Amino acid sequence: MSPARRADAVVLFGASGDLARKKLWPALYHLAARGRLDLPLLGVASSPWDDDALREYAADSVRAVVGSPDEAVVAGLAARVGYVSGDYRDPATYARLAERLRGSTRPLFYLAIPPSLFDDVVGGLAGVRLNRGSRVVVEKPFGRDTRSARELNEVLHRAFTERAIFRIDHYLGKEPVENLLIFRFANTVLEPIWNRQYVSSVQVTMAESFGVEGRGAFYDSVGAVRDVVQNHLLQVVTFLAMEPPLGAGADALRDEKARVLRAMRPPRPRDVVYGQYEGYREEPGVAPHSGAETFAALRFEIESWRWAGVPFFVRAGKALAKTALEAVVEFQCPPRLLWASDEGHMAQPNYLVFRLGHDDGVTLGLQAKRPGDELISHPVGLDLSYERVFGARQEAYERLLDDAMDGDASRFAREDQVEEAWRVVDPVLRRPGPVHRYPRGSWGPPEADRLLGRAGAWHDPGSEHVPLAGAGRGD
Ligand code: BG6
Repeated sequence: MSPARRADAVVLFGASGDLARKKLWPALYHLAARGRLDLPLLGVASSPWDDDALREYAADSVRAVVGSPDEAVVAGLAARVGYVSGDYRDPATYARLAERLRGSTRPLFYLAIPPSLFDDVVGGLAGVRLNRGSRVVVEKPFGRDTRSARELNEVLHRAFTERAIFRIDHYLGKEPVENLLIFRFANTVLEPIWNRQYVSSVQVTMAESFGVEGRGAFYDSVGAVRDVVQNHLLQVVTFLAMEPPLGAGADALRDEKARVLRAMRPPRPRDVVYGQYEGYREEPGVAPHSGAETFAALRFEIESWRWAGVPFFVRAGKALAKTALEAVVEFQCPPRLLWASDEGHMAQPNYLVFRLGHDDGVTLGLQAKRPGDELISHPVGLDLSYERVFGARQEAYERLLDDAMDGDASRFAREDQVEEAWRVVDPVLRRPGPVHRYPRGSWGPPEADRLLGRAGAWHDPGSEHVPLAGAGRGD
């Protein structure tokens, strides 16, 4: 297969929106700074702006996020920007866009707009044949359930082939998340123990110390499961659980990830705990009696030879004690306790903690002899900070925009993955259980602790070592 050719123009739908301001313009700035942006950038939105207004907006967005950018790069970026103002439902908008794109044969369309507008935009692009030879990037949320995701896929497929569709899940662009692949498949020591014989449980935590921050109306219509579990956190689970891909190409990787999702059983009602932080209902845009979950803890199982019987616990929440993203793989305890342990009269397991957010790294939890006369084991951590070893890495959106311009889909979600992930959470969404209140700054409702049962307790990110099996608050 010949390599895809790089895009020759980028068109941002929603160029004056929140995502463009916080992520896309800063990412384009970083690409420009690396010499990876030598094409025209067109913004399309309904605001009655002109080229200069969008240029100013782009430059301000960069300055707000990047701090003290290189002003020569900002000016160079702004000089590439043009603006098409118009209603997404009006065919004249697309005629004007086609005019501005004259001479471009491989534009990349970025839909940073609500999915309810995809139909109009995709139809509008096809109406002026701009779908030919081009690619389209679509932002999450990709549907609300399996049915709506299928409908969206149908809408996109009316004008674009699957190869030309790039579904964003920005967790796929995070270097620490991607590092799970290297950690697992470039190091042979792990493979013999990476299965149900040695692993007793897996936890994935995405904690945010802030609330909905001005996104109340959007968040209230989705809740934590749709916002981050169906996409970001199930992606992290697939990295942890997948088989080695058969090759390096985008589809080899995505095939294996889709297989993990296919083997996942939807959680039963007793495997799900929902929470809502106190004060959420007073947030702007949130319904006064809202039942939306701002916290969710779920237990998943993967019915495969490698993972049968190993619980995968996933939790996500807003207004929690800390902001952190991490995965913990806990191994089986030694069969007998030969010596006393500092942690009580039980054998202690080893564990691996993958820190996937800021200050990313990995800690291997081991036992060592406590200094002194007695033979007593004491937990210690072998700790590696990738931040310290490698320094700053690229931001997810920078990498994803670059990939989409190159036509490399490895870091994008494929149609079948998205639909399988919805299949796994659909029953949870259809039968939401009680929503427990929790105080801001806590670790969510105590019911979430009980979910772990014999698997112990949740690992609190940042704490020195993992609470141990059998010693959990839930026991
Ligand atoms: C977004 C969610 O997809 O991811 C937000 O809509 C969430 O609610 C955000 O805060 C988290 O992203 P990151 O990169 O800060 O972990």
